[in-house]
Amino acid sequence: MHVLAFVTQKGGTGKSTIASSLAVAAYEAGERVAILDMDPQQSLTTWSEKRGRGDVPVQAVSLDELDVMLDILRSAGVTLCVIDTEGTASDTAVAAMQAADLCIIPVRPNAFDLWASDVTRRKVRSLGKDAVFLLNQCPPLQQGPRVQAGVQALEAAGALLSPVIVSRVDYQDAGRSGAGVTEVNRSGLAAEEMRKLWASVVRQAPAGTFATPPAAQDHETVTTETEATLISA
Ligand SMILES: Nc1ncnc2c1ncn2[C@@H]1O[C@H](COP(=O)(O)OP(=O)(O)OP(=O)(O)O)[C@@H](O)[C@H]1O
Ligand SMILES: [Mg+2]
Repeated sequence: MHVLAFVTQKGGTGKSTIASSLAVAAYEAGERVAILDMDPQQSLTTWSEKRGRGDVPVQAVSLDELDVMLDILRSAGVTLCVIDTEGTASDTAVAAMQAADLCIIPVRPNAFDLWASDVTRRKVRSLGKDAVFLLNQCPPLQQGPRVQAGVQALEAAGALLSPVIVSRVDYQDAGRSGAGVTEVNRSGLAAEEMRKLWASVVRQAPAGTFATPPAAQDHETVTTETEATLISA
């Protein structure tokens, strides 16, 4: 079982939004997926109640319950566990980082997010874990100077997961309705982003961890965006 943790001490960057849509995209690609909700706000627990079916189950867990729950998921044959955390530097977030094979740090293209994200990256690295940034809620014009500055800063700091995620109503509609963006608008640009993001995560994982999704091949041919490499600094 591969464990992804969405972490950052900055609130509102899109951890819950991307965690849920990525989990759905992975499920659609054939993985057995479970989400662990470690945020006391319980955004994804509510998302799951709206969803109303157990294909991408969400379990709220406390710090003390995490290890036992991970063992249960492993025994149940889950291949991908996505952990959502609160937007603070808490003991819970640290436990999620320690449990993760890869920590994803969503960042909006502004200075405050960029500064805060580096603090989170250093925390993840101090635990000996791998981290990648994810640039989220970007204005549609991706060549805009703010997005480009964000891309350059995050690449310089280590690694940026592709693609850059644009601010789109599909993400808000999906969150509200207990769906992933690949479900609310299958042929939309947000859905395409999420399939490509899943393909990037697959490429980050050791060979054979996941079934290769069909989108991975599309991705190779249609994008020239930055390929992620793990942060080693
Ligand atoms: N790519 C996007 N396009 C449009 N809206 C987005 C996108 N990503 C996130 N949002 C919106 O931004 C807001 C914050 O997102 P979200 O709740 O996922 O952040 P979070 O990091 O989980 O926050 P918290 O730290 O409070 O848990 C939500 O209203 C969500 O709908
Ligand atoms: Mg959240």
